[in-house]
Amino acid sequence: MSPPRNRRCAAICPQGAKKHPGRSFVFLVQRLLLALLLPLAAAAAEIPVKRVDGEPAADPRSPSWLKQAPVSVPLYPQASVPPATKAGKGSVKVRAQRGAATLALHLEWADRKPARERGIGAFADAAAVQWPQGLDGKLPYIGMGHRGAPVALWSWRADGTAELLSAEGFGTLTAQPDGGVQARGEWKNGVWRVVLSRVAAEMPEALPLAFAVWNGEGAERDGLKRLSAWQTLRISGTGEKVTPRGTATPGNVARGKRLMQAKGCAACHAYPGNPAKPAIGPDIAYAGGLHAPAYLEESIREPSKVVVPCKGCFAEQDGRRVSVMPPFEGSDSERDDILAFLKSLR
Ligand code: HEC
Repeated sequence: MSPPRNRRCAAICPQGAKKHPGRSFVFLVQRLLLALLLPLAAAAAEIPVKRVDGEPAADPRSPSWLKQAPVSVPLYPQASVPPATKAGKGSVKVRAQRGAATLALHLEWADRKPARERGIGAFADAAAVQWPQGLDGKLPYIGMGHRGAPVALWSWRADGTAELLSAEGFGTLTAQPDGGVQARGEWKNGVWRVVLSRVAAEMPEALPLAFAVWNGEGAERDGLKRLSAWQTLRISGTGEKVTPRGTATPGNVARGKRLMQAKGCAACHAYPGNPAKPAIGPDIAYAGGLHAPAYLEESIREPSKVVVPCKGCFAEQDGRRVSVMPPFEGSDSERDDILAFLKSLR
């Protein structure tokens, strides 16, 4: 089921959508943003948006970008659905600017050798910025959204492509024609610098966003990528309302690790310290780095709420996906211990 159209963002918003919103849009944003950003609280850094005269520079090496302090965002290999990315962890430095009409993001990451061509067996370097497309009070699944919670992507590829894409889960990526995304990349001395921008006349105070980077040299494309957790883009305002301090985790990591065996999690999931390396469920080696705490908790309480579309991971029942993972059974303190362990995986 997809959310009602009028709840989706339109051309006036950075993430874009197919239809113009109803008059209630701004109200909706205000009301729902809190719910959307609250789950981010502990994990994410805030990326401030700098207001500039005119429009942000399209040139990624412009001093107006380089003199602005970046925020470093960790990237993790995608391992939830096969094929899993072999590359290790990384990071992307992010800067954001807003002009009279456009919002622009400057991404900078290390890459020893540029890959610009696409062809048979050749893949170009690429990067993308992911936004929730609906503002229905729930963050989409970090891996390209989930059913009923679509995402929009600003995508850049080193062969010169810039596109607006949308997705509603792994494997559902579609291009939005005339999406209005502009992008320019430059590689120099082992560093890619890319500016992505789009007209966005009306923006809320803050928006969730996430990043992904593909290394063409390593044959990365599609799900073979490194990605970040959801972050907060601070467009205006002080941030006091939407970024409460991260709550201390009540659980105990060492006890949680033992419970992973005792509760059967280790029979289905691969993670560091589990010698069995099963592949019935997703590899959760980076679960704490990638997923918001609220998502982790929901994953074990109600596995069928958001189902990772890995092979053999779910059954279709009356058009609904039902996870093969049993809901967690145990005490609250056992659940907290397991959550503490999951959050430590990063
Ligand atoms: C019978 C096998 C099985 C058992 C037992 C199991 N899981 Fe899962 N788990 C899965 C499958 C399959 C999925 C993917 C489908 C889904 O989203 O529920 C999953 C998904 C997850 C996810 C989300 C991963 C992602 O990439 O989004 C987490 C976290 C998780 N499980 C943790 C646990 C924990 C903790 C336990 C023990 C309390 C556990 N699982 C027990 C099979 C299992």
